[in-house]
Amino acid sequence: MSYVSVIVLICLLVTAHLPGMSASDQDLDARVRSFLDKNQNRWRDMNVPEIDGQVLYDLVLEHGYTRALEIGTSTGHSGIWIAWALSKTGGKLITIEVDERRHQEALANFEEAGLSDYIDARLADAHELVPELAAPIDFVFCDADKHWYKNYLIAVLPKLEVGGCYTAHNVAGGRMRGIREFLDHLESLPYMETRIDRSSWSGISISFKRAEK
Ligand SMILES: C[S@@+](CC[C@H](N)C(=O)[O-])C[C@H]1O[C@@H](n2cnc3c(N)ncnc32)[C@H](O)[C@@H]1O
Repeated sequence: MSYVSVIVLICLLVTAHLPGMSASDQDLDARVRSFLDKNQNRWRDMNVPEIDGQVLYDLVLEHGYTRALEIGTSTGHSGIWIAWALSKTGGKLITIEVDERRHQEALANFEEAGLSDYIDARLADAHELVPELAAPIDFVFCDADKHWYKNYLIAVLPKLEVGGCYTAHNVAGGRMRGIREFLDHLESLPYMETRIDRSSWSGISISFKRAEK
């Protein structure tokens, strides 16, 4: 075998082990990973724990979602996990935060993580903005004011694609004001299939839309 053939063979083997990953994908992965590692113990604004971020990331990637909505950005931890997955599916995240200081910090974090191109961060009251958003949406993470969870669900469901997924944080125990009403409403909808992920103590409800209502 010639020297050139050996080089070609090595290149083919390397490429085969990196299916679908370009050099820029790998650069972005390294940048996000390094940002997350550096900030692992610095999330202080009611942010999700890393393990819940991983749950959201896996859902988006596994189902190939591209039109995501987050209600309650805070400083951007969950948004980074969702947008990281969207960077691989070719999607974009709209995320809404009402507090200006947290919104500004989230913008800086998205930039530092290299994910700004995948995020449309809005400074707004989600009570007003969510009902105005355009369809279709295929992935939702609800993590804002719990007493409004049921209202967010009612506003988003007609815009959620069949096969789409509606997730909500802090549902474990159902003790926080509004959570019981939210879960009861979900259960009353025959076209929604719900399970509770308990990777962390908070609990995430994960509901798939199986049909148009
Ligand atoms: C639990 S924190 C979100 C944490 C974030 N998902 C993360 O993991 O990084 C909830 C956020 O929702 C925001 N929020 C509460 N009510 C809101 C509303 N009506 N509209 C928009 N944001 C709201 C709060 O200001 C707070 O920053």
